[in-house]
Amino acid sequence: MNNLIIKKTEELTNWRKNIKSEINFIPTMGNLHHGHTKLISTAKNKNSNINLVSIFINPLQFNDKEDLKNYPKSIDNDVKLSFSNGADVIFMPSIDEIYPPNDQTIDYIKAHKELSSVLCGLSRKGHFDGVCTVVYRLLNLIKPKNLYLGEKDWQQLLILKNLVLTKKLNISIKSIPTQRDFDGIPLSSRNANLSKNERKLIRLFSNELLIAEKNFKKDKIINLKEIIKKLSAEKISIEYLKRLHPYTLKNSADEDNISILAGAIRCGKTRLIDHVFLMKRSPIIAIDGPAGSGKSTVTKLIAKKLKLLYLDTGAMYRALS
Ligand code: PAF
Repeated sequence: MNNLIIKKTEELTNWRKNIKSEINFIPTMGNLHHGHTKLISTAKNKNSNINLVSIFINPLQFNDKEDLKNYPKSIDNDVKLSFSNGADVIFMPSIDEIYPPNDQTIDYIKAHKELSSVLCGLSRKGHFDGVCTVVYRLLNLIKPKNLYLGEKDWQQLLILKNLVLTKKLNISIKSIPTQRDFDGIPLSSRNANLSKNERKLIRLFSNELLIAEKNFKKDKIINLKEIIKKLSAEKISIEYLKRLHPYTLKNSADEDNISILAGAIRCGKTRLIDHVFLMKRSPIIAIDGPAGSGKSTVTKLIAKKLKLLYLDTGAMYRALS
């Protein structure tokens, strides 16, 4: 498929009607960085589907007008980066194309209540409703098979998974881990707005989380108060720093084998989020199935890929009998 740029929803709908192959959809707000290009190239390398990238700064998800005004833009570079990393089609509509004035048919979505009322939901009122509304609108226009999202916005990822589930959409969500810069800070479009000093503060924050992750593997404990004290001493303004269950986002109990340590800080006008997973041990994956279905082959490959111990219980039982 030749590189194609679509700007009108009508054009997109007509194009979609004539497309037989499945679509991988990578939604973005532009100012692309390696996190985005990794999503685009991962989608490209996974299958022979058409790769469609959207570039749209969604006003509904900004609760702060200044933040919307200052959101970094680099459209020519975004187009170049998208195509050179495997996009086949770019959809870059105007605001009126996505939200036509006086259109009564737009579905304004309310994000899952529990998932959206914690962490970023506390300070960014309506943000996740805006994210769900635009993504639902784009999914209905594009009708993709796969939706590719970054794990950096973990709360957003959970909320969009819930949206796909409750709307019974036949879409599979694929995610990739947070991509970090050379100094450990998560790649984000907003990093473009950081001063040297703000970047230094974020580096301290992210590195503190990465150290906590490493220490937790060893010691199985975490001292949140200590981390907050350390960061506050550096005059880092912490909006939240919480240890939660990674899927429900409810408070994590000490006996949980896996939890998420998620934080948000403010640096000047910029607000940044980061998270790490706290794991007491490596995950245990049990694989079962009928005889001859390839359990051992698949399990061996997964164990190798995830660097896990491979335990062939089938062979153990056979030896015993
Ligand atoms: O993560 C983002 O960049 C945005 O929230 C998204 C998913 C493109 C919706 O505007």
